[in-house]
Amino acid sequence: MTELIWVNGKVTKLSEATANYEDRGHQFADGVYEVVRVYKGRGGSGGGVPFTLTEHLERLMRSADGIRLDVPYRVDEIAGEVRKLIDTSGLQEGMVYMQLTRGIAPRNHLFPKKPVPTLYFFTRELPPVPAPGTAEGVKLVTVEDERWKRCWVKSIALLANVLAKNEAAEKGADEAVFSEGGTVTECSASNLFAVGRGVLVTAPVGPKVLPGITRQVLLEVAAEQGIPVIERNPTEYECRCGEELFITSTTRELSWVSHWNGVQIHDRPGEITLRLHRAFQERVRREVGAYQTAMV
Ligand SMILES: Cc1ncc(COP(=O)(O)O)c(C=O)c1O
Repeated sequence: MTELIWVNGKVTKLSEATANYEDRGHQFADGVYEVVRVYKGRGGSGGGVPFTLTEHLERLMRSADGIRLDVPYRVDEIAGEVRKLIDTSGLQEGMVYMQLTRGIAPRNHLFPKKPVPTLYFFTRELPPVPAPGTAEGVKLVTVEDERWKRCWVKSIALLANVLAKNEAAEKGADEAVFSEGGTVTECSASNLFAVGRGVLVTAPVGPKVLPGITRQVLLEVAAEQGIPVIERNPTEYECRCGEELFITSTTRELSWVSHWNGVQIHDRPGEITLRLHRAFQERVRREVGAYQTAMV
């Protein structure tokens, strides 16, 4: 498979692509992004199938609106181009990274009068997600949430997340949990779910929580499974001492949590976590399969 990039309609090899230093994405982080998971389908068109592509593109539109950026394409137009790029590159299992910025203009905090947004996306292989229960648990470390209050915008300004994740890594952990006055919001690149007395607790989306697409699919899967959900910020105590704890994201699906601030809190994935992860993968199989069938 060849990593290909689509930039405002032009396709090249990612390794040969160049960017303009005065793109506002570089100078002001004036842009938004998406990561879409691609799953190997059941034969067919040369590439894998992007999961929940429309949901990701609709979030891209909401994020763009959140930074007052008009997108010069419709969701279905971008979706068509994304699918074409996946097929041309031959990507089966991996992701599409997508970024939209306010475009190229002489450096100035003020918006350019007639911005020409830069939209690009590229393909990248990833290993398949491990079967539920087969991966090691994730180690979390709490970090003070110092981010802005528009975390529902999937902004490319990720420095607070980058610093938090590196702080976690330096402490031997995998992911940072943002903490605010004893309750938690989300992680540096994932949403968090605590399980107590058979009920899922996860922070509501909004100022400090990204509306994760995996989170949304998981809420639907939980409803199908008859598992109740409460949307409120779980306390650190609930996370540490609850029955189960897991995190969700596009690239990892669900990961069970084994450690919290260097202390082991679970030695295996919990029953509800496993059940939800299996049901989530079933949903992926259904959608990927249905897409392939529709294309035949
Ligand atoms: C801060 C943050 N929260 C949550 C998520 C999970 O979102 P999704 O499930 O859409 O990948 C991400 C993913 O990158 C993230 O960066």
